[in-house]
Amino acid sequence: MPITTCIFDAYGTLFDVAAAARNAAQEPGREAFAEKWPAIASHWRLKQLQYTWLRAVMNTHTNFWEVTQNGLDWALEAEGLGGDGDLRARLLQLYWELDAYPEVPSMLKALKDNGKNTAILSNGSPDMLDGAVSSAGIDPVLDDTLSVESVGIFKPASAVYDLVGQRFDCAKDEVLFVSSNGWDAAAAASYGFRTVWVNRAGEPMDRLPAKPDTVLSDLTTIPDLANA
Ligand code: LAC
Repeated sequence: MPITTCIFDAYGTLFDVAAAARNAAQEPGREAFAEKWPAIASHWRLKQLQYTWLRAVMNTHTNFWEVTQNGLDWALEAEGLGGDGDLRARLLQLYWELDAYPEVPSMLKALKDNGKNTAILSNGSPDMLDGAVSSAGIDPVLDDTLSVESVGIFKPASAVYDLVGQRFDCAKDEVLFVSSNGWDAAAAASYGFRTVWVNRAGEPMDRLPAKPDTVLSDLTTIPDLANA
C-alpha cells in the first residue's frame, strides 16, 4: 500500500524540546542556570513524559501544559533552583515558541508537493501546539494538528493513534508515523503504522514488543521514504 499520510510527533520530533533551556541559559543573569541547564532539560523532559504515562495508567488525565509545569518544578527543585520563579516563568514562556529543527519546513513542503496528507499527532494541548506551529511558520504545510485532548488520554494509548484513521479515512499501512521518541515509534509500530524513529542522539533501541521499520538521524529523507 503506498503511503498517503505522514504523521509527526511534535515535541522532540518537529520541535527541539531542549531549546527552551538552551536559549534561556544564554540570557544575561542566568549564570547559575547556565551551569546546570543540560541536567535540568533532561530531568524536565523525562519527568514530563513519566507523568503522562503514569496519568494514563492511573486514569487521572490532565492536559500536557499541567504535566509540563509539574515536570519543570521537579527538575528545578532537583537541581537546587526551585525558588527561582523568574527562571520558571521564562522557561515556560519559551516552551510556547520552541525552535523547529532546521529541515522541518522544507521536508513538510516536499510532502505536500508530493500530495501526501501531513499532520501532527501529539500529547500537546491544542493551544500549546498552535503556539509552536505558528511560531515555526509551518501552518501552511500541515493539514491538521491532532491533540490527545480530543480523547482524554496520553500516548501510547491506542485511542490516540485511532485519531489518524478517523481524520484521514486511511488504512494503518498507508500511514508513515514519525517520532523521535523510541517508545512512541514502538507503540505506533505495534498499532500497525509504518514507522520511523528519528534517533538524533544515537540512543539504544527501546526494548519493547514492536520495533520501528526505519531509523533515521534527522528528518531530511522522509519525503523519499514516503514515496518509496
Ligand atoms: C508529543 C510528545 C510525546 O508531542 O513528544 O506527543
